[in-house]
Order: sequence, then structure tokens, then C-alpha cells
Amino acid sequence: MTATTALGTARAVDRPTAEPVVRIRDLTKRFGGAVALRGVSLDIRPGEIHALMGMNGAGKSTLVQLLSGAYQADGGTIEIEGSERPGLTPRRARRLGVCTVPQRRELVMALSVAENILLGDLPASRSLVSWKSVERQARQALRHLNIDIDVQRTAGELTVAEQTMVEVAREVRRGGKVLILDEPTACLGAAAADRIRGLVRTLRDEGVAVVYISHYIDEVLSVADHLTVLRDGSVVHSGPAAATDAAGLVRHMVGREVVSRRPERPAPSPEVALTVRGLSHGRDIREFGVQVRKGEIVGVLGPAGDAQSRLFDLLSGRRRPDAGELEVGGAAVPFGRIPRSLASGLRCVTGDRRALGLIPGLSLDENLMLATDRLSGRRLRRRSDTTRRAAPRRESYGVVALTRDPAVGSLSGGNQQKVLLAKWLETSPVACFLEDPTTASTWRRWPTSTR
Ligand SMILES: Nc1ncnc2c1ncn2[C@@H]1O[C@H](COP(=O)(O)OP(=O)(O)OP(=O)(O)O)[C@@H](O)[C@H]1O
Ligand SMILES: [Mg+2]
Repeated sequence: MTATTALGTARAVDRPTAEPVVRIRDLTKRFGGAVALRGVSLDIRPGEIHALMGMNGAGKSTLVQLLSGAYQADGGTIEIEGSERPGLTPRRARRLGVCTVPQRRELVMALSVAENILLGDLPASRSLVSWKSVERQARQALRHLNIDIDVQRTAGELTVAEQTMVEVAREVRRGGKVLILDEPTACLGAAAADRIRGLVRTLRDEGVAVVYISHYIDEVLSVADHLTVLRDGSVVHSGPAAATDAAGLVRHMVGREVVSRRPERPAPSPEVALTVRGLSHGRDIREFGVQVRKGEIVGVLGPAGDAQSRLFDLLSGRRRPDAGELEVGGAAVPFGRIPRSLASGLRCVTGDRRALGLIPGLSLDENLMLATDRLSGRRLRRRSDTTRRAAPRRESYGVVALTRDPAVGSLSGGNQQKVLLAKWLETSPVACFLEDPTTASTWRRWPTSTR
């Protein structure tokens, strides 16, 4: 392995006695009057995978935003490599080696893997760039982390897992010493998630301090060295991962014993709710067909990617297929007409809540009620009335917010997802097509022993 990156010298890190690279002390963050983090202290050490766990809204992302300089704390200190760093900005944090790989990919999809890895590090005049050297350096950065991806491919052609890997390689090449990964395996299949976990272990062995946010309890227990659990903005547990099991971890997260209970599943009725026949589009959606009865859940499996989101676009009326038929509740519904599709009772809930699902300029309660009001032809109501009618929905979907009716965009990721589901599932649908509905949710994929 070459020693050309910042990591080359950091390999023989002595775990677990290594000095912390980040020391967080008594960190507090308020939004308006509400407290999102209260007196959080923790140490992040090189050569360690430090998992950050907690229910939706516990404060994980807020903590990470403070550490990466995106937010300013209201109290407490952050020490990086032995010095206090007040007034941290994203640029300074990155220069100090604190890098974040957010859940949404930040690659330039039209550029090659090599260009993406060297982005920001290319000589100023493009005409003088030695592309051979760019590719060589990119290849080296990937090889250094045992990643096997052709640097000439464009980022847009890569799978989601490969894109994550390229981002990680870029951050490490830039001198990342602390790498924050926010749900890196969400939306991935088992094999792809395995590759990401393999990469995370390589980073750890190279001496990087990895901060790992995930809702998959089994995954966290298998990959993490150290666990910190946040609840309502406070650290309620921090210790070696080996000393905790799934039940204990869930107890810390929830704050009480969780009894495993499987919901009763009613037998589906013989009545058909949704029929898709011979749906074809482009090269990879060929003669897709499915029949779903009332009260039935049918899973559509496949790697996250273009074909999957196109299937969603076709069924929701955003795109027209080359061929196919759609029936909802026994009546034919034309493709490509969103109002007709909605009127038939079909609801398509997007996996891309930020781009398509929620209206960021409106409040939590307005978003909860919007679809119901529009579909029933109701004119816009008074805010207090909206809040009153939204209350039972907040309750039954477990939406948690710090203030009474905040902007929907200020909610934590998992809570936004709950709002999106409630918004559509409460409109008396005949059939629903849900794209990755539990993404970002704490309840996703808990081990059956604790679910
Ligand atoms: N910009 C903001 N303005 C107001 N409140 C905010 C803001 N950012 C976060 N919050 C609130 O702070 C609390 C913690 O949110 P945070 O996003 O840190 O949770 P999280 O642990 O990352 O949850 P999730 O698992 O759902 O992503 C939430 O109640 C959220 O509504
Ligand atoms: Mg979050």
C-alpha cells in the first residue's frame, strides 16, 4: 500500500489507547427556544469506528453538523487534535481533516471518477491538466483503500455503493482524519452494504476515526468498536460495542424495555385493488406486471437505481411508458396523467422526499393536511384549524418536533419521512405504491428479537 496520502503514516495506530482526535465537551445546541442537544460530551479516536445511535430526532445529525462546522454551538467546546476550535466553519473543519459523506451523493454525475476524486485539486487552467496524471492519482487513491472501480467511468454510471466509495476515497485523499458517514448503507442491497462495511473497516485499519450513523442495529453491532447513544439530545450511553447486545442497545435508545410484538396481519380480501400489465419502458423495464388485492402487501425487490425510480415515475403518472395497462379498483387509469391517477385512488409515495414529497415552505401540520385538503377540494384553512386536525396524525405516526408547528424542513430526517407517509396514507387510498418507505426511520430493520 502506498504512503502518499495523509493516512500513510497513521497506520500503526495503537487502539484503543490512542489519544482522541476529537474531544467534544458539554455541547449544547438550541433552535429558537428548543434544546436539540444538551451537554453532549464524547471522544472520537483514530482507528476506531464510533457509531452514533438514537431514535429519530435524538440529535445525531445536529451533533454531526456542529462537528463539521455547519452549525454553531450555543455552549460547550470542540477540540480537534488537541486545540479548541471555536467558530468552526465547514471549510475550516475540512481543512482540519473532519470530512462528512452525507446521505445524498455529492458527486458531479457527468464527470469521470478521476475528475471527481481530484475535484478542487486540479491545476487552474484546464487545458494544461495532465489527464494521465489525474487518472494515475485517482487510481492510487482508490487502490489505497482496496476499491476496484475504473476511474474513466462517469460518476453517473456507478451504483450508489460505488458512488459512496468514490466520495470516501476523495475525502481520504484530501487528508480526512475524521470521516463522518451518515447512513451509508441505507437503500443498499446486502452485497453492496457488505462492500461499504468492508471499506469502513479498511478506513479504521488505516487509522481514520470513523463516525458511523446507522439505524441498522445488527450492522452497527457487527461493525462498530464504540457506541454512543443519544436520547432527546443527551448522551445516555457510551462504551465499547462488544459490551452491548441488541436488546441493550434498543433499551438505551428507547429508554425502556421493548417487548417484541408482531402485528396481526388480516387475510387479504379477494377483491383486486391494483393491476399492472405489460408495463415496458426503455431497455430495462420489460413486461412488468403485478396484481395486488385489498389488504395485501407485495414487495418489489431490486437494486436501488434508475430502473426502480423509473418504475415509480411510470406508476405515479410522471412519465409515460412505451406500453402497458393500469387498473385501480377495477377501473382503467391512463398513464401519464397525475390528476387521473390521484382521482382513481392510487397514491405513489416517493423515496425522494426532499425533491418531490414535502413542501419546504409550509409547516409540519400544513404538510400533514395538504393532500387531504386538496383532494377533498377544501380551500386553504386557518393555521389553528390545520393544527387541530393534524394532531391525531402526529400522534399515530409518532412525529416528534421540538416546537409547536415548525417548518417541515427543520424536522429530523426520520420525522420528515413519517410526515410524508402520513400525508398520503391518510387520504383514503385504494392502492399505494411506496418507494423505500422506511428509509431514515429508526424502526427500519430492527432485529426481529427487538422489533
Ligand atoms: N434547523 C433546525 N431548526 C429547528 N429545529 C431543528 C433544526 N435541525 C434539527 N432540529 C430539531 O432538532 C432535533 C434533533 O434533530 P436531528 O436531525 O439531529 O435528529 P436525528 O437524530 O438526526 O434524527 P433522524 O434519525 O430522524 O435523522 C429534532 O427535534 C429536530 O426537529
Ligand atoms: Mg438525522
